[in-house]
Amino acid sequence: MRVRPAISGRQLRYLCLLTALANLGGNPLMLAFQRPAFQALQIPLPADDYLFTLQCALSFTMGVVALVMFIRPDRGLLIIGIVGKGLYAAITYYFWAIQRVDAWFLLFVVWDAAFVLVFFLYWIQLAQPDLVELGHSVFAGLDARKEAPRRALVIGLSLTGNGRKAIDRLVAGLTGEGYTVDLAWVQAHESIFRFPMSWGAFARVIVRAFFRVPAKARLELPARHDWDLVVVESPTWLLGAAAPVETLLAGGEYRDLFKGRDAAVMVVCRGAWQRSCAMLVRRLERAGANVVAARGYPNQGWEPARLMLLWWKLLAKRDRLWGVQYGLSDEMLGHVQQLGVDLARRVRNRPHWTLLPEARHA
Ligand SMILES: Cc1cc2nc3c(=O)[nH]c(=O)nc-3n(C[C@H](O)[C@H](O)[C@H](O)COP(=O)(O)O)c2cc1C
Repeated sequence: MRVRPAISGRQLRYLCLLTALANLGGNPLMLAFQRPAFQALQIPLPADDYLFTLQCALSFTMGVVALVMFIRPDRGLLIIGIVGKGLYAAITYYFWAIQRVDAWFLLFVVWDAAFVLVFFLYWIQLAQPDLVELGHSVFAGLDARKEAPRRALVIGLSLTGNGRKAIDRLVAGLTGEGYTVDLAWVQAHESIFRFPMSWGAFARVIVRAFFRVPAKARLELPARHDWDLVVVESPTWLLGAAAPVETLLAGGEYRDLFKGRDAAVMVVCRGAWQRSCAMLVRRLERAGANVVAARGYPNQGWEPARLMLLWWKLLAKRDRLWGVQYGLSDEMLGHVQQLGVDLARRVRNRPHWTLLPEARHA
């Protein structure tokens, strides 16, 4: 099993088709059978036939937009869809609130609002398709003619121990494939980034994460710098990468660690890894790294127990709540180890001339 986005691009595309069929089929049916349908549901008939027909025609047009989105996914059309469905939901809700339409119309409000979300998620995925790919493949590495040294640097930050466990398994995967691994923990300078946390420290971390306030941090590095792979691990804090890790990648001090090297991102989280991965991937790319993979690993359990348990863990150091155990499952840790193996075995780009037949026979 591979860890993928909650809703894949393919599923989002088929959801576009679903709303297209609903709008394209539903509106003509509504116009044709409005009288018996409204009477059966005991809804008063629309006061103005002309306005009702016009509304159905506009909704039909939205169906055409959704159908074109399905046939040829396009970010511009998705924006039209977001605005259109958003307005439909808001206007219908308003007219229900002032008691001008029946409660049945709330179904349209829910439907249209749900599709605003679907279109928005699709819009994000279309904006950065490489991030989706990086979530389940390992891209080709940089040219490694020298074959040696097969040495990796793993940079990580772990407050509650999840990242530490994940890193152990990643290292096991890498070393099993012949890698030597150097570990460098991100050392945050401020005392609020410690575990266990007080309520005050937790609130400060959250507020600072909301405003993306940089955090002071440094790395303790070994003398040898001959790595061909750098893996950056981070927990998610308030839907983004942990501030000390992000600050470290954003600054110029450690840029040389990433420049011209293969790099991978590993995020551990309660459930939201996509934005953290995106932030770290873009930071690494800006630092000149060749990013080959970016994975997120969520904690085990079900919501809302998993969320409650996180607070429970942070503030009371408890590991179990309502039968849910805090942290990554054994299965998830197995995926992490497999990532180590996949990274170690990643395909390297060869210089073009070694692929020519005459060079092969030389
Ligand atoms: C201050 C704080 C905020 C967090 N916010 C989120 C969040 O928004 N989304 C999420 O999925 N996990 C969130 N988490 C959970 C951690 O990402 C998760 O438990 C992670 O596995 C912790 O890794 P660590 O044990 O290596 O520190 C948060 C944790 C902390 C400490």
